[in-house]
Amino acid sequence: MTGQQPTSFYEAIGGEETFSTIVHRFYLQVREDNLIGPMYPVDDWEGAEARLKWFLAQYWGGPPTFSENRGHPRLRMRHHPFSIGMAERDRWLEMMARALDTVDEQTLPGPYRQALWEHMVRVADMLINRFD
Ligand code: HEM
Repeated sequence: MTGQQPTSFYEAIGGEETFSTIVHRFYLQVREDNLIGPMYPVDDWEGAEARLKWFLAQYWGGPPTFSENRGHPRLRMRHHPFSIGMAERDRWLEMMARALDTVDEQTLPGPYRQALWEHMVRVADMLINRFD
């Protein structure tokens, strides 16, 4: 890549490797979580990890692997089976914030970190389907 400009946000933050790292560190916490952990398929942690990684990578300009494997994202519909209130939203974001914190500043400079985070907050807010 010497002398070339990165062509996408995805590439600018280290591509596949960075997204894998973030999502893996997120799921390590989810597995142990008492509130939202039980919603996830116990026999398919690797699959769940892959799906979230594909989605984020594709959104930020990486390969269209999510669409190829899962079709249109339709995230609200896909989260319908799960009861998501403020507590679940906060917990998801809390674990994701910790996962992002483990990525160094050089890999994920401030403005990129901020953009990733704001997108996650927007999606999490949109997925709330229980108002209590
Ligand atoms: C607000 C709290 C959230 C809860 C409780 C939650 C929970 C879940 C659960 C239980 C699954 C099923 C796991 C699987 O088999 O793949 C799932 C899937 C998924 N979630 Fe979430 N989620 C939340 C927020 C988010 C956010 C903020 C995003 C994106 C930034 C996201 C993206 C996805 C994707 C892409 C899938 C896989 C969809 C598929 O291909 O079927 N989720 N989520």
